[in-house]
Amino acid sequence: MAYSLLCFWIAVITLCSAAQGAPSKKQCSDANLAIDGGHYVLSKNYNEGSVLAYRCPHGYFPYPDKSRRCLGNGMWKPSPRKKPRMECRLVTCPDPLVLDNGSVFPNQERYYLNNKTTYECFSEYTLRGSSSRVCQANGKWSGGTPICSRDTDYCHDPGTPPGARRSGHIFNIDDKVKYRCEGKLTLVGSKERTCQQNGEWSGSEPECYYDYTYDTPEDVAERFGSSLKNNLREEEEESQSQHEKKIRLDKSGNLNIYIALDASDSIDEEHFTKSKEVIKKLIDKISDYEVSPKYQIFFFATKVTEIVNIADFYREKGPTLDEIKDKLDVFEFEAKGNDAGTNIAQAFKTILQSISFVKTQGEKQFLNVSHVILMFTDGGANMGGSPKPKVEQIKDLIYQGDRENREKFLDIYVFGLGDDVWKEEIDEYVTHRDGEKHFFIMQDMQELSKTFDEMLDESNSVGLCGLHKDFDDGRQSTIVRRQPWLAKIVVTHKESAPSNCMGSLVTPRFILTAAHCFKFGDVAEGMMVDLGRYREKVKRYIPHPKYNTTSKVHEGIPEFYDYDVALIELVRDVHVSVDTRPICIPCTTQTSGALKLSGSAVTCKQHEQILLKNQYERATFMSPRREPKHVHLKLGAARESCIEDAKKAKNVTVKNARDIVTDNFLCSGGIEPETDYVACKGESGGAVFVERNSRSVQVGILSWGVKNLCTDSNNNKVLSDESSRDFHINLFKVQPFLKKYLGDGTKDYAPLTFLD
Ligand SMILES: *[C@@H]1O[C@H](CO)[C@@H](O)[C@H](O)[C@H]1NC(C)=O
Ligand SMILES: *[C@@H]1O[C@H](CO)[C@@H](O)[C@H](O)[C@H]1NC(C)=O
Ligand SMILES: *[C@@H]1O[C@H](CO)[C@@H](O)[C@H](O)[C@H]1NC(C)=O
Ligand SMILES: *[C@@H]1O[C@H](CO)[C@@H](O)[C@H](O)[C@H]1NC(C)=O
Ligand SMILES: *[C@@H]1O[C@H](CO)[C@@H](O)[C@H](O)[C@H]1NC(C)=O
Repeated sequence: MAYSLLCFWIAVITLCSAAQGAPSKKQCSDANLAIDGGHYVLSKNYNEGSVLAYRCPHGYFPYPDKSRRCLGNGMWKPSPRKKPRMECRLVTCPDPLVLDNGSVFPNQERYYLNNKTTYECFSEYTLRGSSSRVCQANGKWSGGTPICSRDTDYCHDPGTPPGARRSGHIFNIDDKVKYRCEGKLTLVGSKERTCQQNGEWSGSEPECYYDYTYDTPEDVAERFGSSLKNNLREEEEESQSQHEKKIRLDKSGNLNIYIALDASDSIDEEHFTKSKEVIKKLIDKISDYEVSPKYQIFFFATKVTEIVNIADFYREKGPTLDEIKDKLDVFEFEAKGNDAGTNIAQAFKTILQSISFVKTQGEKQFLNVSHVILMFTDGGANMGGSPKPKVEQIKDLIYQGDRENREKFLDIYVFGLGDDVWKEEIDEYVTHRDGEKHFFIMQDMQELSKTFDEMLDESNSVGLCGLHKDFDDGRQSTIVRRQPWLAKIVVTHKESAPSNCMGSLVTPRFILTAAHCFKFGDVAEGMMVDLGRYREKVKRYIPHPKYNTTSKVHEGIPEFYDYDVALIELVRDVHVSVDTRPICIPCTTQTSGALKLSGSAVTCKQHEQILLKNQYERATFMSPRREPKHVHLKLGAARESCIEDAKKAKNVTVKNARDIVTDNFLCSGGIEPETDYVACKGESGGAVFVERNSRSVQVGILSWGVKNLCTDSNNNKVLSDESSRDFHINLFKVQPFLKKYLGDGTKDYAPLTFLD
C-alpha cells in the first residue's frame, strides 16, 4: 500500500512508527471530504490509521485526490481542501496526435471516454496498427499504436505511443530510439529501444499511464499468459521422458516460483480472501502445463508470514498441489496480525534468502533453475527502504556476471492493484524481456481473478501450438518432440498403389495435407495416420471444394493444383503431450500467443506481415525421416522469377506462369540467395513452416514441383538446381476453408479461434 507521504521510505522511519504507535486520541473530521458524482469508503471509520478511498462510476476518476489516511493527530493526509472541490472526472486518453507522417481525425485538445479517432498516412507511407481507436474507460486507446512508415530501414518504424515523445528517426542496426511521456503521464515499458540484428527492437513498446490508467483482464491474460508460457515451455523441454504428471510432481522440476502477497492494512478481508483464491487459480493453471515447479508462497506486510517454504521441496517434503491449496485455505485473515506497513524490501529479502538456499543445494544444478517471482501489491514500499538493492542482489545472484546468457533464468512480475501503485519505481525493478510485459496495473483483486479465469479458459489441449526443440540438438530421444505435429499418411486406392503423403496435426482431431494424396473413390477405412507415438484411424477426408486437377487441361495445363489442400478428420482426439502437439496455423488467437501479439485488435494481416516478411523468407519442411529441409520462400519482387520456372514443368504449354501458379501458391527452390532443398516424392502435403520465438507456424502445404531430382539413394536430401522450383499452397489464401472446419465450435473437439 502506498501512503507514501506518511511513511515514505526516505523519510525518517522513527517518525513513521511514532505516528503509527501513538495512542489515538483524536478522530479525523468529515469536513470537505465529499466528492461530486461519487462517494468514499473508510477502512476504520474516522479513527487513526483509517484509509479513505474515493469511488467514482465506471469511466470516471477522482480528482484531485485518490485517497487519504487519518493520522494520529486527527488530520487527514493529504488534507481535504475546499477548492478545488473533489469531483469525479470523465476519463481522458493520452494524446494521439503524436503520429508521424500521417493525420489524426478529429484533432482535439483532449480526448474523452468513447471519443473515436481515425488515422491516415501520407502518400508513400503505409499504416501498421489500428486505423481507428476508441478511448476506453481504463484510460487507454483500443487497438494498437498506429504507425506510418516506409520501412526503408533495417528495423521497422517502432512508432510513438499516444502521450509519448520519441527521439531517434533512423532504424538501422544498433540505432536507438528514446521515449518519454508528456506531463503527468508515467512511462511503463522500455524507455530506450535498440534495433537488433534479428530485425526486432529490444524491449517492449512503452505506454503512458495516467494514475487512473489500468490494464484490463483480457490484456493481462494474454500478455502475462504468453510470457509465462515461455517459462513453462523451457521447463517442458528440459525434463526428459517423464510425461506422467505424478512422477514430475515429486522431483525433477527445475522451475522455482516465488509468490509474494501484500497483506498490509490497506488490504481488507474480502481482498485477502480473494487473493488466496487467485493464487489457487494460478497454480492450477500452471499445473495444466504438465510442469511441477517448486513454490515459495508468503504474505508480507511489516513482516513476512510464510505459507509454503521452497526449502521443503529440496528436503523431499514439498507439499502437493492440494496440500498447497489447503495451506492457503487455513491461513486466516487475523493471522496476518495488525501490520501496517508495506515492506516490499523485506519480501524481496525473503526471496533472496530462498534463492541463496537453492544455490547451496548444488552450484551446478543451480545453473539450470529458472526463477519466476510474482509479486502482488496494492502500492509502493512505505517502510523497510527501497526494494531495489535487494532486487539487484537477486539479479546478481542469478546472472553470475553473465547477464546476457543468464537473464532468461529470472522473471520478476509485479501486479499492482488499485491506483496507489508506484508505477515508476516498480517498472524499474521488474525484469524486461523483448516483446514481453512484466508489470501490470489492475483495478482490484476482482479484475486479477478475471485475468486468471481468462487464462484458464484458453483450451490447454491446443495451447502452446508449434512448440519445438531446436534442430541442432542431436539427442535421439528428442527426435519425435522436435516436430510433434508431423504426420505420415498412407492412403490405399482401389485401382493403384497406395500413396504416401505427409501432413501436420493442426488440432487434436485434424490433419492438414494436400488434396492430391487422395483419388476419387478413396474410403476412410483405407487410410492411416502415423503421428510417431500414435497410429490413428481416419473418420473422413475433406478436399478443398475448388480443387480440380483437370479443370485447365484445355489451357495447356495437364494437371492444375490450385487449392491442393485437404483435411483429415481422425476418429478420435489425440492426446496432446510433449510428443504430440499441433503446429500453429496463421490467423488464430493461438498463433497470436506464439507470436507474442496481444489485444483484441490483432489481425490476420499482421500475422502475414510477421510471418511472410522478407523477400527471401527462411522456411523449413521435413523429410519422412524427420530431417529438416531449409528453403527460402520467394516473396514480393522475388516471386515473379521463381514462378516463371513453372513453365519448364513437363507437358505444360502455358504462356503466362500465373495461369498455373496462382496467387494461392508460395514458391521456393533455386539457388538464390542460397541453394534450397527440393521436395521429393512422399513429402507432398507436408507443412512448410517458419519459426518465431521457438514456435513453428505453418505457412504452406507442399503441393508440386517443376522437376523430380530425387532418387531412392539420396535419402530425400537433395539440393536444387537453378530452375527447380516447388510450389506450396499458401495458408493465408485458404482461410475460409480452414476456418470452416477447424474453427467449428459446434463439434466436440477443441476448435481454433480464427482472427478476421
Ligand atoms: C516523416 O516523419 C519524420 C519524423 O517526424 C520526419 O522527420 C520526416 O520529415 C517526415 N517525412 C515527411 C515526408 O513528411
Ligand atoms: C468526446 O467526448 C466528449 C465527452 O463525452 C463529448 O462531449 C464530445 O462531443 C466527444 N467528441 C467527439 C468528437 O465525439
Ligand atoms: C543442467 O544442465 C546441464 C547442461 O547444461 C545438464 O548436463 C545437466 O544434466 C542439467 N542438470 C539438471 C539437474 O537438470
Ligand atoms: C473439373 O473441371 C472439369 C473442366 O472444367 C469439369 O469437366 C469437371 O466436371 C470438374 N470436376 C469436378 C469434380 O468438379
Ligand atoms: C506428358 O504427356 C505425355 C503424352 O501425352 C504422357 O505420356 C506423359 O505421361 C506426360 N507427362 C507428364 C509428366 O504428365
